Amino acid sequence: MKSSSANYVRIFDTSLRDGEQAPGASMTSAEKLEVARALTRLGVDVIEAGFPAASPDDLAAVQAIAAEIGQTSIEGRPQAQPPIICGLARCTKNDIDAAWQGVKGAKHPRIHTFLATSDLHLKHKLRMSREEMTARAVEMVAYARSLCKDVEFSPEDAGRSDPEFLHKVLAAVIKAGATTLNIPDTVGYTMPDEFGALIEGIIKHTPGAKDVIISVHCHDDLGLAVANSLAGLRAGARQAEVTVNGIGERAGNASLEEVVMAIRTRGAKIGLQTGVDATQLCRISKLVSRSTSYPVPPNKAIVGANAFAHESGIHQDGMIKNAETYEIMKPQDVGATHTMLVLGKHSGRAAFSKRLTELGYPLEGDALLKAFNEFKKLADRKKSVLDADLIALASDERTTVPELWALDSLQVMCGTTGMPTASVRLRDPDGKIRSAAALGTGPVDAAYKAINGIVQLPVELLEFGISAVTEGVDALAEATVRVRHEEQRSSHGHGADSDIVVAAAKAYIASLNHVLSRQSSGRVQHSQSAPTEVPR
Ligand code: KIV
Ligand code: ZN
Repeated sequence: MKSSSANYVRIFDTSLRDGEQAPGASMTSAEKLEVARALTRLGVDVIEAGFPAASPDDLAAVQAIAAEIGQTSIEGRPQAQPPIICGLARCTKNDIDAAWQGVKGAKHPRIHTFLATSDLHLKHKLRMSREEMTARAVEMVAYARSLCKDVEFSPEDAGRSDPEFLHKVLAAVIKAGATTLNIPDTVGYTMPDEFGALIEGIIKHTPGAKDVIISVHCHDDLGLAVANSLAGLRAGARQAEVTVNGIGERAGNASLEEVVMAIRTRGAKIGLQTGVDATQLCRISKLVSRSTSYPVPPNKAIVGANAFAHESGIHQDGMIKNAETYEIMKPQDVGATHTMLVLGKHSGRAAFSKRLTELGYPLEGDALLKAFNEFKKLADRKKSVLDADLIALASDERTTVPELWALDSLQVMCGTTGMPTASVRLRDPDGKIRSAAALGTGPVDAAYKAINGIVQLPVELLEFGISAVTEGVDALAEATVRVRHEEQRSSHGHGADSDIVVAAAKAYIASLNHVLSRQSSGRVQHSQSAPTEVPR
């Protein structure tokens, strides 16, 4: 697959920038680096690594990605080169300088700068005339181009902009040196035929448009982000800006896995191709879900737990006779395997470690030992241990947030009579054991109150969720928690255990560790999430 061929669609992943702007989806630098590694294995062409002017932490994360990911070609990756590493900047010298500081360590750096073109944004947000906007965009694209030879420009809210004005601005920024023109439907307002016509019009009426790459960037406010992206690509765009699991501002962005699989599955009709290794899709979906604590709905196309499940008798009958009756893609095409672990409670650590590595979750040292001990406990209680169980166990050990506080033991008393009670023992950052007991409205509430009594870190609980990793009453439980401390951006935590209260406690402690590690790195941002009921 050659990026020079006329029907090649460049996949520009913005999970680490637009995706990370989703309320509460913030990731640590280490988590971002891990996602960037997975995106490279997936074979995306461009990684938008962040918004370096947003905070010193964001800048450091982009620099780390540029230095590591932007320099390494991964063996077996469709493209021979490392991906382009891109940093976002508003149209100001300050932002563009920060973006350049972020990406310049990559072999293929890109600066992405944006300024709104719709009259609504010009009047109410920017308070600029059309002429002032054009002059600023031209000046800043030229400035970015003086630093970096790969410059992308986005006319924000293009979907609601006057097309004639848009063509003028785009022609001017091409002259100033822009090499990619990204057309955002910032508020997810357009219909597929309108968005396709917008792209067609840009290619036809913008002088110089045929010499640059036209890109699409669609939001999902009306559930049309993927349809609009495909319409834009069919009209001649050759870059799609997408996020894993469709995470992003408000209703999110076009989902990477849906755009890629639509192009692949309907290739004969659409006549386009990408360089993505689709067998990595489920794996990266899980990684991004875990790193952001945004669960993947079971009915999510391509990567949802039920995307390849067949429940009704008629469907099952058809599937047995010929899988094509009800399956347009094979689960293995997207890496969705439900392999039963051939290991049992008598299996050794080497076999366990080998399977984790095959699943893409390699562990070493103490982390391997801890996960192995958890696996043994689980294998004792659970009939069959599945790959999904293993991934959940490994995920707990692969957290990139320092384990400042750790659960030593937990005991709860609950039932139909009396007040639920929890006794908790935690290991503090110096390794000392601290204990507390508390009453609550339910066992989780009691456990959280006892933990609060020890850690003494006031947080507001924004979200709490618990789900079973696999089927059956003996399934491993996976809990996710989102909290906020003072004015910080929200922090999340994840915990897995065969006991749901223990899983909930682990997740809560992980979220407190997240807050504390963020405090020490000084990243302060505001969140927009609304408070949630305390779980019981
Ligand atoms: O949605 C949008 O307009 C954006 C731009 C910064 C490209 O995310
Ligand atoms: Zn966006």
